[in-house]
Amino acid sequence: MNLFAKKSLNVLLTEANEEGQGTLRRHLSAWNLVLLGIGAIIGAGLFVRTAAAAAEHAGAGVTYSFIIGAIGCAFAGLCYAEFASMIPISGSAYTYSYATMGEFVAWIIGWDLVLEYALGAATVSIAWSEYLNKLLEQFFGPAYVIPYQWCHSPFQTQLETGVGGIINLPALLILLILTLVLIRGIQESATLNGVIVAVKVVIVILFIALGWAFIVPANHEPMIPAVSTYTNALGNTHSFGGWGGILAGAGVVFFAFIGFDAVSTAAQETKNPKRDMPIGIMGSLAICTVLYILFSYVLTGMANYTEFRTNGAEASVAYAISTYMTGYGWLAKLVTLAILFGFSSVILVMLLGQSRVFYSMSKDGLVPKVFSEIHPKFRTPWKSNWLFLAFVGVFAAFVPGSIVGDMTSIGTLFAFALVSIGVIVMRKSDPNAVRPFKTPLVPLVPILGAGVCGAMIFGLGMENWIRLIIWLVIGLVIYFAYSRHNSKVQKGL
Ligand code: ALA
Repeated sequence: MNLFAKKSLNVLLTEANEEGQGTLRRHLSAWNLVLLGIGAIIGAGLFVRTAAAAAEHAGAGVTYSFIIGAIGCAFAGLCYAEFASMIPISGSAYTYSYATMGEFVAWIIGWDLVLEYALGAATVSIAWSEYLNKLLEQFFGPAYVIPYQWCHSPFQTQLETGVGGIINLPALLILLILTLVLIRGIQESATLNGVIVAVKVVIVILFIALGWAFIVPANHEPMIPAVSTYTNALGNTHSFGGWGGILAGAGVVFFAFIGFDAVSTAAQETKNPKRDMPIGIMGSLAICTVLYILFSYVLTGMANYTEFRTNGAEASVAYAISTYMTGYGWLAKLVTLAILFGFSSVILVMLLGQSRVFYSMSKDGLVPKVFSEIHPKFRTPWKSNWLFLAFVGVFAAFVPGSIVGDMTSIGTLFAFALVSIGVIVMRKSDPNAVRPFKTPLVPLVPILGAGVCGAMIFGLGMENWIRLIIWLVIGLVIYFAYSRHNSKVQKGL
């Protein structure tokens, strides 16, 4: 057995071009991809994790955290774009690493991407549940909100009443609905996504434009809070403020950027992947970066970050608008509604990305065949969709959003770092391969990509490192017990 067996580029490209029964349809354009990207990008990271990062790590300095996050993503994004244009096949970072660094690294990345996509979907579904309750409160009154215990995990307790959570039912509901949409087929999903993206971008711009007048300069002073300690709702104490806090905040809000790489998982369904992939990835990232920096500046200027530890801890954006923007009650309602739709598109792309990565891994024999069985009529990997509904559902129902959110961040950062290094490896091992899009300034850009992502991993702290390591160890056990014995590359198929 060769741990570093590689899948050849030719085999990958032949597979990508196979048409007919049992393969995916090609019908997405560059514009569809930018929309797919924004659909996946703007979500809980912006509307929930921004306030959490300000409250727990960075204060008003969360705006700087976004800048650091964007820099890491831009470098890693340039590396993703080279691979995505070169290897236009479903499976994203997993597929690239199979061709560059061999099966073992590919497995690690594919396994790690479960954190990104599956736990990412869980995180956003939990945020969806928060905003659903806000919506019920805004439209029908506090008597009509879902009781705390039915929309929180068993690890959470309501501050004022001491009521503990049992299960997060709304999070499960939205996952079920979107799984059904996905099984119906990606064409319908892309259209729905386009509408949602428009609504989401309009809401972000409205919040920035109208909220700007409500910024209280004192809330931004100091932009970088002095170093102190903070104990969160789960009882964990850690350092707050300073550049360390900003770096930790960057690890948290990095979640808000996740998704532009999900564009690459749709390569096999793209009409002209060589040209469209780089446009899709970098275009969606650029648009979101500008919006995020402005948005976080307005949010932390409107409300003081300390409020996001108490009253504003949930549905923070709706909280800030209804508390400080007098006369804008309509905006608070509109934002809540738009956010609910917006989160849906994020969950959709995450679930899509997850099933696509496992589709590729299954085609390669690394995970069971059930993950690549295509529905005879809808031509979607429907069994995989159901299995992931069960997996994601467990996290959505029983684990707090902050924990799954940070696990998503750290898993994705790790994948980004490996992809960045992969570009350097591939330039050495396969210098003559056709590269329709080339990462500029290699090896500087990949090194900076890996370095900035590594710094954010560092910022996320020991607890998250341990969670990542445990997840990877589980993956290794599966690899050595199952995958390497069933790998098609190993069998020479
Ligand atoms: N970037 C996505 C979000 O913020 C995952 O929800």
